Amino acid sequence: MSTHACPWWLGYLLVTPLRRLLENPAKILTPWVQPRMTVLEPGPGMGFFTLELARLVGPGGRVVAVDLQERMLATLRRRAQKFGLADRIETRRCSRDDLGIGDLAGRVDFVLLFHMLHEVAAPDRFLRTVHTVLKPGCAVLLAEPPVHVSPSAFQASVQEATKLGFEIAEPARGRRLQVLLRRPPI
Ligand SMILES: C[S@@+](CC[C@H](N)C(=O)[O-])C[C@H]1O[C@@H](n2cnc3c(N)ncnc32)[C@H](O)[C@@H]1O
Repeated sequence: MSTHACPWWLGYLLVTPLRRLLENPAKILTPWVQPRMTVLEPGPGMGFFTLELARLVGPGGRVVAVDLQERMLATLRRRAQKFGLADRIETRRCSRDDLGIGDLAGRVDFVLLFHMLHEVAAPDRFLRTVHTVLKPGCAVLLAEPPVHVSPSAFQASVQEATKLGFEIAEPARGRRLQVLLRRPPI
């Protein structure tokens, strides 16, 4: 059980433009995110992916960004204002035990879990909540950082997700710890 959360000051490093050379948000997200979607992003940090999610859902869409740390969310909001995207991004502070997204049950079109699941204290409960908010047939992109997560630990998380009812829509490729999970259609 993890009790670690990325320190807030590291959040600034995670939004450096240089990161795009290795992880380009537009390239990673464009295949999965369409205009007018409702997207949930737990653990957005300072919003490296959130701004691109907001661009992709467009003015008719919505991104709900939920983080444990208010300092991450405050900087995310400032960056969203700066890029004219604040009207479609809602930030919520959560606790370790409760994501506080009960109102989104069955209403979310896409979930992004990028480099955050390894910090979650109770991943099974967390993934069950994510399953509940997704519309049937909709997907979760799960990616973990190889510096903190071993391939076997990643596989264990994916297996846990399948036990909870997710199916694997796109398996991990090469050395990337990244899969697309889907809540099966009804
Ligand atoms: C390593 S950072 C990654 C940030 C961002 N996803 C990225 O890739 O740049 C992990 C983030 O997840 C947040 N976090 C950790 N546990 C969480 C939980 N149980 N619920 C919501 N956010 C959480 C941390 O506060 C931190 O902002």
